[in-house]
Amino acid sequence: MKITILGIESSCDDTSAAIVQEGVMLSNIIAGQKVHEIYGGVVPELASRAHQQNIIPVVDTAIKQAGILKNDITAIAFTRGPGLLGSLLVGTSFAKGFALAQNIKMVEVNHLHGHILAHFLKIPNVENKQPAFPFLSLLVSGGHTQIVLVKDFNDMTILGQTIDDAAGEAFDKCAKVMGLPYPGGPVVDRYAKLGNPKAFQFTKPVIKDLDFSFSGLKTNFLYFLRDRLKENPNFITDNMNDLCASLQFTIVDILMDKLKKAVKLTGIKEITVGGGVAANSELRNKLTELGAKYKWNLHIPAFQFTTDNAAMIAIAGYYKFLRGEFAENNIAPLAKMKF
Ligand code: KG4
Ligand code: ZN
Repeated sequence: MKITILGIESSCDDTSAAIVQEGVMLSNIIAGQKVHEIYGGVVPELASRAHQQNIIPVVDTAIKQAGILKNDITAIAFTRGPGLLGSLLVGTSFAKGFALAQNIKMVEVNHLHGHILAHFLKIPNVENKQPAFPFLSLLVSGGHTQIVLVKDFNDMTILGQTIDDAAGEAFDKCAKVMGLPYPGGPVVDRYAKLGNPKAFQFTKPVIKDLDFSFSGLKTNFLYFLRDRLKENPNFITDNMNDLCASLQFTIVDILMDKLKKAVKLTGIKEITVGGGVAANSELRNKLTELGAKYKWNLHIPAFQFTTDNAAMIAIAGYYKFLRGEFAENNIAPLAKMKF
């Protein structure tokens, strides 16, 4: 029988279920949550309530779209953490109930491992270019910014990470200062396409080794706007495209500096990128440019695998299943989880 994994992701504000059979993605359903937009950020209590409403229909659709039956599912892989506890509880509780009812194994997945291993998903009718071990993963999301050395599916070491805000957080917080809606990353990306990335200069932090910092940039951006608004109350609207382009340029530049450094230190030129910020067009362009210049073997994910999704959890779970690493059914989710 083919190993068929039902993946569940509910760590933040996306409820997602996916079916992955022998490493091949058959479905990947994602229900986002519009409810947070008006608050300018994810409201944890509202997120868990929405997950509760979405989880059954999302799983049902994932199974139907995959063209399989519930009884074809070999195991259920779910995000145990890190994330919002109330959100994680919905996915974890669903996994427990489903595993018990179907008498199948459960596999717990670290959300970050999911982002990193998403590159191993095979997509029907799409050329499958999997990274070769060892590789470096630049993981850039709303909650994390890390460079990880990946030696095997179960052998990953963080080489550097942010000491304060994540890259996605920098996009979102600066966007908020400009009055843009949440999440600000994609909105900044859109305006930036029409702007001049050299119009304004913002500070780049000096941080040791392969660690990152984005809180200084955020403060610099805030004070810069405050001063300019004194001279021209319409400064933001008058310069939206250039502001977004310059901000995006700086964030990507900070990320690329450390990635280049990591390649130099490790000698590894097999590079992957993952997490929501991997959808950013400037980041994708810069990576492609540097990849060609320095002869990196680059793996840039399709857009659907940059933000949170259950297919990445299912593929990470599939490799754990093959190693026989199962979860006990008294398992609890973890808001903070050891990498
Ligand atoms: O991985 P993800 O979906 O959730 C977390 O695990 O955090 O990442 C969400 C983050 C948000 O901060 C969002 O603004 C950012 O990814 N993001 C982007 C873009 N698309 C999403 N940032 C910059 N440019 C984008 N195109
Ligand atoms: Zn994520």
